[in-house]
Amino acid sequence: MNTIEIEEKYAIPFFKKLPVVIERGAGVYVWDDQDRRYMDFTAGWGVTCLGHASPVITNALCEQAGKIIQNPSSGLTYSPARARLLDLLATILPGRLQRVFFSNSGAEANDAAIKLARKVSGRTDIISTHKSFHGRTISAASATGQAKHREKFNPLMPNYRFVPYGDLEALATAMDGDVAAVILEPIQGEGGVNLSPEDYLQNVSALCEKNGSYLIIDEVQTGFCRTGPMFAIDGLDIKVDFMTMAKGIGGGFPIGAFAVSEEIAGKIEIGDHGGTYCGNPLGAAVSHAVIQYLIDNRISDHVAAISGSVFEELHRWLQTYGSVIADVRGRGLLIAIEFHQASDASAVLSRSLEQGLFVNITQEKVIRLFPALNITREEAAEGLQILEKVIAGLVRSSTS
Ligand SMILES: Cc1ncc(COP(=O)(O)O)c(C=O)c1O
Repeated sequence: MNTIEIEEKYAIPFFKKLPVVIERGAGVYVWDDQDRRYMDFTAGWGVTCLGHASPVITNALCEQAGKIIQNPSSGLTYSPARARLLDLLATILPGRLQRVFFSNSGAEANDAAIKLARKVSGRTDIISTHKSFHGRTISAASATGQAKHREKFNPLMPNYRFVPYGDLEALATAMDGDVAAVILEPIQGEGGVNLSPEDYLQNVSALCEKNGSYLIIDEVQTGFCRTGPMFAIDGLDIKVDFMTMAKGIGGGFPIGAFAVSEEIAGKIEIGDHGGTYCGNPLGAAVSHAVIQYLIDNRISDHVAAISGSVFEELHRWLQTYGSVIADVRGRGLLIAIEFHQASDASAVLSRSLEQGLFVNITQEKVIRLFPALNITREEAAEGLQILEKVIAGLVRSSTS
């Protein structure tokens, strides 16, 4: 049997797969088993921020793997690799967030934040937003405001409430003395790359403070320069109690994290949380190398510059191809092109792939572009050229 046949026979079929077998990658490019080259504008789902097969990651992995991968008794012993990562994170985490624990994924980080918010507040309820996505474990799915991730798995975790994203009044109305925390993405990623109104996050933070509820900011998709700044909430005057991270933090190595304020840390007791890996030396070494690269290479500025030229192009497309494109939006290199018709979005996905470009669809009508953050201007232009050709072809076929 070949690769596809084996996966189709033995893997649990959670995914409607694309018919491509990926053998290797380098930077924004990947190659299939026929040695055909593609561009990856999905960065492995917002993950491989330094591109594929980055030597920065390979070197950190090999060096650390040659020393130690997993400590004796796991988190019960100290690790220089983990200490270095904690020390570096302390220099970039927003505001009062200084204490960090590591998870294996974004869902797990959100799980832990919700669990601990309940414990330290002594309250039960969590407010989340419609169209949010916080992960697929049972409590992260319970906090996810999309029916398709929830309705087949009932009963979910109790005491979750939902309000429209960006609607401050609805949130104020939903607040009461039972609310342990509000969980929020600074920009909804899976929900369709939805930006919040100006001052929304500041106002939510103020509402949380007034109500004695905690604010959990989910930076799993937006963190580590994806939207330009190191974190999407950087520079905003908000009181964050928990912040969750994953994806870009490991550049492709499966690691997540959550950070809390000293105040929250002071209310957490030994044994409240844990895990087998919890920032094992291998993941910690890779994450440190990734973050140091982002800082040393001023990737934040680079993302802002590339983003500016990409959006210039996309706004031109909105004018030229308005018969199929309904909207373009996003921030940094988290970019959405919304189509009027879901069928057009799926045609763009499959025709782009035929032309050698991976893009991603979310919410049926939205083509999401989230390439590696160190993509060059030329590479970005190359991918956009393929995409424009596909969209122009779509317009031609819809008018002929
Ligand atoms: C905002 C957000 N939170 C949480 C998650 C879940 O992360 P993971 O897939 O690592 O569990 C995702 C994944 O897409 C996400 O976008």
